[in-house]
Amino acid sequence: MQDISLNGSVKIGNKKPEIFSLADLEDFPEYTGPRINYDEYSTDKNKFSIGFASCLGLLLDCNHVYNQYIYLDDTKKIVRDLEKKVNTLHSFSKGSRFNSITRDGVNDFLNEFTADHRRPVRAHYNIMAWPDSGTDRKEVRNKVSTAIAKMDASPRVELVAGAQLYWAGIPGNQAELPINDTVLTFMDQAICFLNNETNYRDSKSPIGMKLGERLSGKPIHIDISDEPWEKGIINNRNKFILGPSGSGKSFFMNKMMSSYYDDGSHIVLVDVGYSYQGLCEKLGGYFFAYEEDNPIQFNPFFVESGDILDTEKKESLKSLLLSLWKKDAGNHTRSEYVGLSGSLKMYFEHLKTHPGLFACFDTYYEFTGNQYKAHLEKDKVREKEFDILNYLYNLKPFYKGGEFDYLLNAKENLNLMEQRFIVFELDNIKDHPILFPVVTLMIMEIFIAKMRKLKGVRKIIAIEEAWKAIAKEGMAEYIKYLFKTVRKFYGEAMVVTQDVEDILSSPIVKKAIINNSDCKILLDQSKSSTSIDQVAELLGLTDKEAQMVLSINKNNDPSLKYREVAILLGGVLSRVYRTEVSLEEYLIFTTEKSEKEKLFEYVDEAEGSYDIGLRNLAKDIRLGHTSL
Ligand SMILES: Nc1ncnc2c1ncn2[C@@H]1O[C@H](COP(=O)(O)OP(=O)(O)OP(=O)(O)O)[C@@H](O)[C@H]1O
Ligand SMILES: [Mg+2]
Repeated sequence: MQDISLNGSVKIGNKKPEIFSLADLEDFPEYTGPRINYDEYSTDKNKFSIGFASCLGLLLDCNHVYNQYIYLDDTKKIVRDLEKKVNTLHSFSKGSRFNSITRDGVNDFLNEFTADHRRPVRAHYNIMAWPDSGTDRKEVRNKVSTAIAKMDASPRVELVAGAQLYWAGIPGNQAELPINDTVLTFMDQAICFLNNETNYRDSKSPIGMKLGERLSGKPIHIDISDEPWEKGIINNRNKFILGPSGSGKSFFMNKMMSSYYDDGSHIVLVDVGYSYQGLCEKLGGYFFAYEEDNPIQFNPFFVESGDILDTEKKESLKSLLLSLWKKDAGNHTRSEYVGLSGSLKMYFEHLKTHPGLFACFDTYYEFTGNQYKAHLEKDKVREKEFDILNYLYNLKPFYKGGEFDYLLNAKENLNLMEQRFIVFELDNIKDHPILFPVVTLMIMEIFIAKMRKLKGVRKIIAIEEAWKAIAKEGMAEYIKYLFKTVRKFYGEAMVVTQDVEDILSSPIVKKAIINNSDCKILLDQSKSSTSIDQVAELLGLTDKEAQMVLSINKNNDPSLKYREVAILLGGVLSRVYRTEVSLEEYLIFTTEKSEKEKLFEYVDEAEGSYDIGLRNLAKDIRLGHTSL
């Protein structure tokens, strides 16, 4: 608390604010408007709009208070007074040219009022600025004058009425503003001088992550899941992340996932490019990489104790078998579906009566080739209805002795229940036409099963480019199902992609993923092959959101290493933030090969301790002993 002295001039403690006012017609610019371009975020084609008076708000880079007054006076009285003034000036106009000019001016005002039904108001604006430890009065005065001049207004230092203006600026005291310090104008003009931009505020939510405020870099806490959901801004917590290669998608995801992890979430990541290996090491998670001699194994037929073979599980098995059978799983006939469905039904009945039989792909295949085939023959099911030989032929590689016989015959399913951070790295099989979709599908399947069992905790599945493998027509239903189901089980599905082209090519997938992701996270699109118009159309961005996306990284502080990201929530709440991290976090999140290798050299030197290696590398970088 500091004393306020209004004796002559204003003094708060030792600080004397500089007060400037816009209170006389001559102070105001000739032209006003609701917006101006902000050149720093604009490009040739994209004009970034900000409020007309933003240079007196957030963009004025010193301590200040911007007071804005609009008086709604009695319109009739104002008009009456003005009419009277016109008459008086008219009678004196012969003697003075000045009087006739003023009379014409007032007349114009009255004409505009009558013709356009405009609302006359009285307005006053003032700025109170004061230096902090790093600046002096002169600097502050310069900053404010320059800001006012940017609007083509004339800065007027308040010498006499400072104390009065300060007093009137205290909330509740606005009636104390001297009326002769106001100008008569219309509402349309007066509101142009209101400050529309606000600072970002910390969320009160207990969960979320720290990002940087765009202008100042100040760290702020944001929750882009629960809070907007509770406020009704979004209807699901799913996220769609888009940015061209190198724009920082994986880096941002690392940051977001580490925050989610700290909040107690269960996370499953499916990646193709080793972008989460560092974070997984740091958090002590499970890292599954698909390797030839140690491949990931699943068992989609295995029903764990406590789980039941419900319709959903059966439907997902059917999707799997269809995708193993047909290149395009969507391209099956009704009778083929019936035939396949029947095989599963009979197989599970068979299992019940043969408790010694282990549920897995091999026993299903054998059952289908023997008992079920015989059953179809007995029923005289024709080949064109359900070609069981073709079915068995196409599925053979997954059966004992086949090329992929290990894949679906695990003795038990992977148990993801206890582990909170799991990464599936599918880089080795990303071009494999069979393994890639099947493995991706199995991972999603396991996630769904676990999601339904884990109660009361947030569950996240984030799929990097791998989603493309399953983004076929036939799988669209499955993706839709995943996106919709996670919502019901306090889960979040996230899809990370470089290019919207892949999504454009499948309208069903587009619907399934984009329409079910209320949060869209966009990175710098300037190197994207798709135009912003296309992106905006596909994602349903508003003009303002498209402007925001185009402004990403346009005016970054060159002395700092960070990138910007646009987080768009339900088309309602959209912001651009800095993703700025500590050196240690950078070393964990980076995807640059040489940087990752450097860290692993340090980890090796520290006898395999990730933490010690990380600390040593950060220390050496800080001391200048090494660099990235
Ligand atoms: N917020 C950031 N701060 C500092 N550096 C960053 C940031 N974001 C990205 N980078 C740098 O850019 C590199 C590439 O980022 P990232 O791997 O996230 O791109 P990407 O969009 O995932 O690309 P791809 O589609 O090829 O996987 C990172 O290794 C890091 O060096
Ligand atoms: Mg990436």
